[in-house]
Amino acid sequence: MDAECYLVIDVLRATTTIAVLLARGAAEVRVVGSLAEARQFGGDVLRAGEERGFRPEGFDLGNSPTEAATAAVEGRRIVMATTNGTNALLAAAGRGAVFAASLVNLSAAAAAAAQYRRAAILCAGTHRGTRFALEDFAVAGLLTATLARSAPNLELGDGARLALACGRTPEASGMVRAAAHARYLASVGFGADIEAALQLDSWPVVPHVAASGEGWAALRC
Ligand code: MLT
Repeated sequence: MDAECYLVIDVLRATTTIAVLLARGAAEVRVVGSLAEARQFGGDVLRAGEERGFRPEGFDLGNSPTEAATAAVEGRRIVMATTNGTNALLAAAGRGAVFAASLVNLSAAAAAAAQYRRAAILCAGTHRGTRFALEDFAVAGLLTATLARSAPNLELGDGARLALACGRTPEASGMVRAAAHARYLASVGFGADIEAALQLDSWPVVPHVAASGEGWAALRC
């Protein structure tokens, strides 16, 4: 996809959590491709990530927006590796402007994308990005609907058109709760994260890839 701007969505939970961390004053969230790379990262950093949804052994933070909302992150550099969302951000880095989008920063992310002529929405999916994730597609629909309201002549690709139809239904938020990954998270005790991820525009910041290199991308606000 050749776009000027990429909106990366992993609503459960990486792009939601990144928005919360940066909104609460973290200096930077540096995403890397694996837990091993995050472990090897030197310097004064906090390590954040998830493995099957849980905080990895030896990490300071998991990938929970609820936890991120109270963690002591002001001024801290965070290195992060998750199953899907951080890899989706790495896939987009270096191809154009890249923003982390979710429901908690939906309007702000849409306003950032509206500055560009051609934008692409990248849904992280599940199973290391190999499977469709209903929650990401539903948020892509809500994001497309938000963009369409401010740009009535928006030219949509087929995927965006289908997402828009989804985003315009009243069930869009319910699709997030009904998604397989949401049900998994709720079953292992992360139900509060789903409700936090559903709080529309509750963290109105726009994390963007400020710098990137081989195997890493630094997000800042
Ligand atoms: C991720 O953040 O990559 C995944 O969606 C897994 C999760 O945080 O539960």
